[in-house]
Amino acid sequence: MPSLSVFGAQWGDEGKGKLIDLLAQDADYVVRYQGGANAGHTVVVGGQKYVLHLVPSGILHPAKVNVIGNGVAVDPIKLLEEIEGLRARGIVVDGKNLRLSAGAHVIFEHHRLIDQCAERWRGEGRIGTTGRGIGPCYADKAARTGLRVCDLLDPSTRRARLRAALAEKNELLLQVHKEKALDLEGQLDQYTALAERLRPLVGDTGKEVRAAYRAGKRILFEGAQGALLDIDAGTYPFVTSSNTGPDGIAAGASFPPRQLDQILGIAKAYCTRVGGGPFPTELDWEKEGTPGWHMSTVGAEKGVTTGRCGWFDAVAVRYALDIAGADGWIVTNLDVLTGFPEIRAAVRYRVAGGETRDWPAEASSVERVEPVLTSRPGWTEDITGVRRYEDLPAAARAYVEWLEMEVGTPIRMLSVGPDRSQVIARGLKPW
Ligand code: IMP
Repeated sequence: MPSLSVFGAQWGDEGKGKLIDLLAQDADYVVRYQGGANAGHTVVVGGQKYVLHLVPSGILHPAKVNVIGNGVAVDPIKLLEEIEGLRARGIVVDGKNLRLSAGAHVIFEHHRLIDQCAERWRGEGRIGTTGRGIGPCYADKAARTGLRVCDLLDPSTRRARLRAALAEKNELLLQVHKEKALDLEGQLDQYTALAERLRPLVGDTGKEVRAAYRAGKRILFEGAQGALLDIDAGTYPFVTSSNTGPDGIAAGASFPPRQLDQILGIAKAYCTRVGGGPFPTELDWEKEGTPGWHMSTVGAEKGVTTGRCGWFDAVAVRYALDIAGADGWIVTNLDVLTGFPEIRAAVRYRVAGGETRDWPAEASSVERVEPVLTSRPGWTEDITGVRRYEDLPAAARAYVEWLEMEVGTPIRMLSVGPDRSQVIARGLKPW
């Protein structure tokens, strides 16, 4: 099994960073294919915490090749900050272990500004974007007005395309958003210097990854965000602007879809969401002492995110794994549920005219569903030190097996704490 796709099966923040870091131990290549610095993958190794935004999670292992594919929206400022931050902590980052696609689109200052301004105009319909310029960059890609890394590296293309882009964007900033215009020469100087620092990393990464696969190397595709934030499959318009699951790999990594050998989803044992949009199983997470508050506090969801928490939603995860054609899935943050007298999960939705196990096609319909919740008894034992499935409390095993049955896809691993070592394998054969 030399190629493996790992993706989020909820609304992001499922704990992918840790799992990808773990699976990267036996991979040769770790490839990002979508999203940008809107992602934040947290990896804890030996008590040291690393938060990665654009650099693939395999960077913490020596001798892995980490690839930022053509489908990623690359902010050169953020990428270079991240690289310097890693180097300052003694991690080697060079053109051998970090590769950047010449075809990746570049996020400029105007993308970030327009992202933040557009949110103001949306008012109540605010998406709650990360403000990192992701949407406007992908919009320009689709409108064919964007600049790719290769355009940024070529002086005449860079000047011509940035001039044309800023002519339009400055009008938008001035007239519509009442902001200051950006100076072409200043932007050219700044981004030229950044591009030169990135040049040693740049190449035809699609070709490199396809050749590696043919040579029998193990390729791990690292999804960012989650399936329910996917621009096509998610709760549109409350989504990100890329294809987050294995659906994004063919286009975003220039990798043939028939060569994808195994697909694994990742979901928390409960559910969280950042920003706006429907969330059928959402709980009150601000009232102290409630289950939602407990998830938000013990799961450290506050601060990293807005803190929105709720029960596990089997309808949503079933849908996410179904469209991805997942072979299995991994449950994270099981330890956060320790101490709950009873644990609930949505197994169906109540909709006009009855009940359904199916995910509704539109975000507006998701807003109207009522989750049908069922419960199982909780456990009180600390499970953070458990490493074998049979050593888990019977109630924890019953909960896991219930989720597996409701979702209908095998659970291959459980995560019971933030460290790389805090996992319980359940027949996972990634390679
Ligand atoms: P954008 O990707 O910044 O445009 O934001 C669009 C939506 O996706 C917002 O609701 C964000 O909060 C959400 N989002 C983007 N990246 C992540 C992530 O890595 N984890 C969780 N939510 C995210």
